[in-house]
Amino acid sequence: MSESFTAPKGTRDVLPPESARWQALIAEFAGRLNRAGYGLVQTPLFEDLAVFERVGESTDVVRKEMYDFEDKGGRRLALRPEGTAGVVRAFVQHRPTTPWKVWYVTPNFRYESPQAGRYRQHFQLGAEAMGTDDPEIDVEVITLAWQLYRALGLQRVVLLLNSLGDPQCRPPYFETLREYLREHRRDLCDEHRDRLDEAPLRVLDCKRAACRKATADAPRMVDHLCDDCRAHFEQVKAGLGRLGIDFAIETRLVRGLDYYTRTTFEFQASALDAAQNAVGGGGRYDLLAEALGGPPTPGIGFGMGIERILLACDAEGVFPAPEAAVDVWVVDLTDSGAALELSHQLRDAGVATDRAFGGRSAKAQMKAANRSGARLAVIIGEQELTDATVTVRDLRADREQETVPRDKLIDRLQELLHP
Ligand code: HAM
Repeated sequence: MSESFTAPKGTRDVLPPESARWQALIAEFAGRLNRAGYGLVQTPLFEDLAVFERVGESTDVVRKEMYDFEDKGGRRLALRPEGTAGVVRAFVQHRPTTPWKVWYVTPNFRYESPQAGRYRQHFQLGAEAMGTDDPEIDVEVITLAWQLYRALGLQRVVLLLNSLGDPQCRPPYFETLREYLREHRRDLCDEHRDRLDEAPLRVLDCKRAACRKATADAPRMVDHLCDDCRAHFEQVKAGLGRLGIDFAIETRLVRGLDYYTRTTFEFQASALDAAQNAVGGGGRYDLLAEALGGPPTPGIGFGMGIERILLACDAEGVFPAPEAAVDVWVVDLTDSGAALELSHQLRDAGVATDRAFGGRSAKAQMKAANRSGARLAVIIGEQELTDATVTVRDLRADREQETVPRDKLIDRLQELLHP
């Protein structure tokens, strides 16, 4: 017997009917983003390693979890761990006019310890808006994400909001924070005892009990914002308030990537376990374009995990897999190849149609038609073939049937399917 294989650890296959939910979710997202003036962006699944190194030298995502490799030409590359870096790299390369508003749906790769809702390949729906620091674009971006959760029927998703300041107010705040952390060094977890000087914000983000306790009274960025950042944050909050979007200020929210400035946010699903309850997150990255060699260009965006959104939908009992059945099943009782012709004609005319294969008996074909969930069977027997007609049978209700001329079939099917 030959060796058999399963999908690599931490990855999943998504098959019908579950995949119909993915399709519906992506379509809902794409429709909403298109209606707000965002266009689809596609960037390569791998980039120069340095593109990703710029976005998170102090983060686990970049330091520990990256799928990096050398290609046959000796280039150092990495599979994307997240969507923003590649999009900003593309912006810097092509210099589109601003504001530049784009969306994407893409797999991301992180070498994590797999568990429910945490995978080594996960998919994100994402959006980025570059070229303006108008607080109203922050409100727009956050609102687009928020409205998607609501459109899916999710009620128990909360929005957490913070501001991480800018190059003016961050350095003095970092110094104040470092001083506090040094005083509490003994109480921090092992990792952060050693790294507090290099990445003080990461300590606030640490989920370990020791760090949590030791930083309970740590100085907070929101109390140290400069005037511009404070005014910006106030306007973001006011805009969200105007649109009736509830949020909670979470002063520990620093996010798992290094590029954030000013507005940061996360959506948490209270129906999920705390370790994997982030169903989306994002923020401003006003310095990233420059870090990637471009002109100073502010930007803001978010990414939302498809797998986690669907887990949250399961937990709340909303957004079931849509009905994937075709409308019509062609049953061919002749040897004439009529099913081949007819099924393609109907599909081409916009009627969702399927059929059985392998010259099955009339009984087996009718069974397949019934099992398929199709509304109607279009049956061709010898008599129908001679008369250039078909028999249309209702498979759901009273199983009524009628004879329809072949050249009137498409019109009649449309009437029956969309009365
Ligand atoms: P992130 O918070 O690292 O942000 O990921 C965004 C979302 O992806 C998370 O909220 C979560 O739903 C999902 N996610 C992350 N890692 C995993 C995983 N291992 N398994 C399953 N789902 C996961 C970013 O990636 C930023 N690029 C977001 C952004 C866009 N910021 C600005 N623009």
